[in-house]
Amino acid sequence: MTTHVHTAPLTSDHTDPEPPEWWRQAVVYQVYPRSFADADGDGIGDLRGILSRVRYLADLGIDAVWLSPFYPSELADGGYDVADYRDVDPRLGTLDDFDALVEALHAEGIRVVVDIVPNHTSNKHAWFQEALAAGRGSAARARYIFRDGAGPDGSQPPADWVSVFGGPAWEPVGDGQWYFHNFAVEQPDLDWSNPQVRADFVHTLRFWSDRGVDGFRIDVAHMLTKDFVDPLPSQAELDAIPRDGNHPMIDRDDVHEVYAEWREVFDSYDPPRTAVAEAWVEPSRIPLYARAESLGQAFNFDLLEADFDATQFRRIVTDNLTLAAQSGSSTTWVLSNHDVVRHATRYGLPDAERGTDGRPLRKHGNEWLLSGGTRPELDAAAGIRRARAASLFVLGLPGSAYVYQGEELGLHEVAAIDDEHRQDPTFFRSPGEDIGRDGCRVPLPWTAEGSSFGFGDDGAHLPQPAWFADLAVAVQDGDPASTLALYRRALALRHELQTGEALTWVETGRHDVLQFHRPNGWTVVTNFGTEPFDLPADADIALSSGPLDGRVLPGETTVWISAR
Ligand code: NOJ
Repeated sequence: MTTHVHTAPLTSDHTDPEPPEWWRQAVVYQVYPRSFADADGDGIGDLRGILSRVRYLADLGIDAVWLSPFYPSELADGGYDVADYRDVDPRLGTLDDFDALVEALHAEGIRVVVDIVPNHTSNKHAWFQEALAAGRGSAARARYIFRDGAGPDGSQPPADWVSVFGGPAWEPVGDGQWYFHNFAVEQPDLDWSNPQVRADFVHTLRFWSDRGVDGFRIDVAHMLTKDFVDPLPSQAELDAIPRDGNHPMIDRDDVHEVYAEWREVFDSYDPPRTAVAEAWVEPSRIPLYARAESLGQAFNFDLLEADFDATQFRRIVTDNLTLAAQSGSSTTWVLSNHDVVRHATRYGLPDAERGTDGRPLRKHGNEWLLSGGTRPELDAAAGIRRARAASLFVLGLPGSAYVYQGEELGLHEVAAIDDEHRQDPTFFRSPGEDIGRDGCRVPLPWTAEGSSFGFGDDGAHLPQPAWFADLAVAVQDGDPASTLALYRRALALRHELQTGEALTWVETGRHDVLQFHRPNGWTVVTNFGTEPFDLPADADIALSSGPLDGRVLPGETTVWISAR
């Protein structure tokens, strides 16, 4: 029995004379610039470092690079606290370096996506500094969300709200007023009902589009617009309000008025600029962001929260292809990014040791990689075996795939970072109960030796563990069994496998083995269990995530079978 899931509008069928839009089935590689490659030897990755690795990116076979923020920032939140949206942090380079990077990537046929952070600025942004100086009732404060404090002298917060990173969401400024910050205290939220705010982001989108940027990743796309009516509700009341488009701050319908204006900007370029929403919303509301009239694509984060489990994977795939069909967009597959524990580690930890967002619990934080019976034990080999199988499964799916830097090396999360080296505000604001996201942001190992394993000439801004040496690019390069070789091969073959945006499930008779066909006859089979699974005797195996025994698929392994 087969189940057919069709996802694409007819325009993407390979018989159509119009080529499908580039982003629909693109592999987008996420670069976290401060941790990718350091050209000037200050321990912080930079744009010229990325430029020096364009060959590596081209050889990997990706279609686009998404650059996490590289803008001037005090790094209160790893660059997501932007002090100037139209410049490069001097520690990372200059606008000329940016132009050179775009030119070099384009010369290799690699598109460039940059991160836009519109919900909040840095507290060092000129606007916020102006707002502090200008005082209550000023036009400068009206770009942000200021309220008088409660109590006779305004010394109490306007509401008891808790920020996403922990701690209060309202901060006093010393004159009886408080400002709202959904994230860190250094990230004041903008007021998106203010026309100056709207105009400025249009300016920013044009600024980067004019410099040749192909698309944008929109940070917390579901929170820009707000409707805070006095008296403000309590946190408990806020939590109880349904998220149906009218919640005071989450996933409001009117946020799409902003994106309709942006759409005009995107479509005024040839080719139109693209955008992908980071929107943590109810699944049924994802298509609102992914519609062509809105941002055009939205992240699907379901696999970040799933176990390595056939039932969960199949449900997630089916649900998200259905959602993509509703919006007319293609779906997006994400196994890792800069906010979650790397998937090799997630799949190697006992399920109970993971928080709901895949993040491990603090009490075990520094202990995963220690031997000698400390808990929770990371089964590092199983983690990487499952990660390779999951990656090959995902890369075989219709839709676009986002690859986070280092997953192509099979990197594990770095758990053992001393508290004094941690940078993530979630660690400091929890306080210390959540070890935060530094473990997936440790600078990449390029060579087995040398200061910072070839990342740069003088150390790395987060400490790298000794085991990075075994996983360095130079070590994996040329080793056909390496994870790097697997990704390179998969990305090369993917151009043959990805035609129409559809799949057909093939029932395998096993609850732990998933199999699907793509429209051109390629087949993907993943054994999520441990019992071997027999493949057809004549299967033309193009790629496998692990060693095969003839036509027998071992546990925790994926194969791609080419069409005949
Ligand atoms: C989502 C980003 O991915 C994350 O890194 C950041 O901390 C928050 N948005 C706030 O900007």
